[in-house]
Amino acid sequence: MTTSAIPVIAIDGPTASGKGTVAHKVADRLGFHYLDSGALYRLTALSALRRGADLADEHALAKLAEHLPVQFAGAEILLAHENVSHAIRAEEVGNLASKIAALPAVRQALFALQLSFRKAPGLVADGRDMGTVIFPHAKLKVFLTASTEARAQRRYKQLIEKGISANMEDLLSDLQARDDRDTHRAIAPLVPAAGAHILDTSHMTADQAIEEVLAWYALTK
Ligand code: DC
Repeated sequence: MTTSAIPVIAIDGPTASGKGTVAHKVADRLGFHYLDSGALYRLTALSALRRGADLADEHALAKLAEHLPVQFAGAEILLAHENVSHAIRAEEVGNLASKIAALPAVRQALFALQLSFRKAPGLVADGRDMGTVIFPHAKLKVFLTASTEARAQRRYKQLIEKGISANMEDLLSDLQARDDRDTHRAIAPLVPAAGAHILDTSHMTADQAIEEVLAWYALTK
């Protein structure tokens, strides 16, 4: 199969919209590969923090992104052989990821790596610009969203379940700041791609959202 014939499902949306869970499960159900593109920005942010990189030096950050010693081993993400699957989920890392994701040289540095995930029999790609920039010819594009309150509640529940203390007001203002940055940046902003199906999951379970995406995909065939 030539690369351009390999089907891609692009799932974009704001932070804590549940798109990670939905994209992952849709990939499992179809036997497709899965790209968590946000993890690449998070890995770049974590590398920068650990190396004490100059956060104002766009080219140094792009170099880090281009040479990430990353390996995806099933559900585990390894950075220079260390399992960083949990470390990249820290709020501090997510916030920095959102900041460096606004830098054009960093986005360019991660471009080829993202394309390389497109392998037979198919790919589910999760992010902010999967349908607009990375895979504009995706077979199915979904923009998965939920109200800020529903997303803050979900994040709150996740943190409490992990035994991490959380404050609803801080979570809400963090989410709003991140949405604002991701939506209003000059390059690859978070917007629904042309032809994207919009899925508002504020009042849906993850299972309902998964079934809806699978039903849309079935219609593309
Ligand atoms: O999906 P996430 O929360 O793990 O992503 C972390 C940050 O990375 C997010 O705030 C914006 C950025 N990002 C991006 O700019 N483009 C993508 N395709 C994925 C993530």
